[in-house]
Amino acid sequence: LELIREVSLRFPSVGVVMITTDAGPHLFADAMDSGARGLVTLPVSYEELANRVQAAAQWSTGVRRHLSSAGDVFTGPGGTVVTVTGAKGGVGATVTAIQLALAAQASGHTVALVDMDLQTGDIASFLDVQFRRSLVDLALITDISPRVLADAVFSHSTGLALLLAPGEGERGEEVSDRSARQIVSALRSRYEIVVIDCGGQMNGANAAAIEMADTALLVTTPDVVAVRGAKRIVRMWERLQIRKAEETVTLVNRFTRNTEIQPPLIQ
Ligand SMILES: Nc1ncnc2c1ncn2[C@@H]1O[C@H](COP(=O)(O)OP(=O)(O)OP(=O)(O)O)[C@@H](O)[C@H]1O
Ligand SMILES: [Mg+2]
Repeated sequence: LELIREVSLRFPSVGVVMITTDAGPHLFADAMDSGARGLVTLPVSYEELANRVQAAAQWSTGVRRHLSSAGDVFTGPGGTVVTVTGAKGGVGATVTAIQLALAAQASGHTVALVDMDLQTGDIASFLDVQFRRSLVDLALITDISPRVLADAVFSHSTGLALLLAPGEGERGEEVSDRSARQIVSALRSRYEIVVIDCGGQMNGANAAAIEMADTALLVTTPDVVAVRGAKRIVRMWERLQIRKAEETVTLVNRFTRNTEIQPPLIQ
């Protein structure tokens, strides 16, 4: 009875069925007082046991549903997801992602900034953050609850919620496309705007994010090599059915009037 009491206190949604040789009325009342959901007497008949377990399971499902509607699951229509990808390294994808996130924050939205440049992500470095939790901590969790998400996120002094890349780049591989999808879904149900730095290297995780994005930005610089890189990426996304060309937004960074390639040419 002590054990039943402890189980039902610590796990309130678990239905306990007690099996006993003594089925006197006293024991029945005591068992119910301790929190048992059913009582089965020995020798056990299969039917009796099945009935009691099923009744307890039904009760438990009801309680869980009730508890979860009290705020432990994500609800709501979901925020806007913006991915930022570099046409090649160093074109300014990270700076763009950070500035976009800060601008969204400044206009009064709740914003998450995600470093999905899994191997070489440097948002933590740009924002001078030291925090050991990362996307990898969420990668192996099938049901990301708001609490689990909140634990993995760093609340920056700017107000941005940061989900960082792992400190050890090789661990980035642990984030599969499936985990990425789950992480992005969890984030968009919690934040109005989710900005994701996808870096300049494609992998399953950032491809999944780009597929889910409301806006997919491709950052390039106005020079021949970067623009060719951008075209290659747009074609690759089309081939792999990640994103249609007309649904990709190209952003030209570091543009001045003197640069070799002017915007009409890039289009
Ligand atoms: N418009 C800009 N004006 C001035 N400096 C810029 C601009 N855009 C980017 N930079 C600088 O260029 C450098 C590279 O930018 P950033 O790290 O954002 O590029 P990236 O595409 O994310 O590179 P990586 O391949 O390392 O991920 C940084 O030092 C950044 O401050
Ligand atoms: Mg970067």
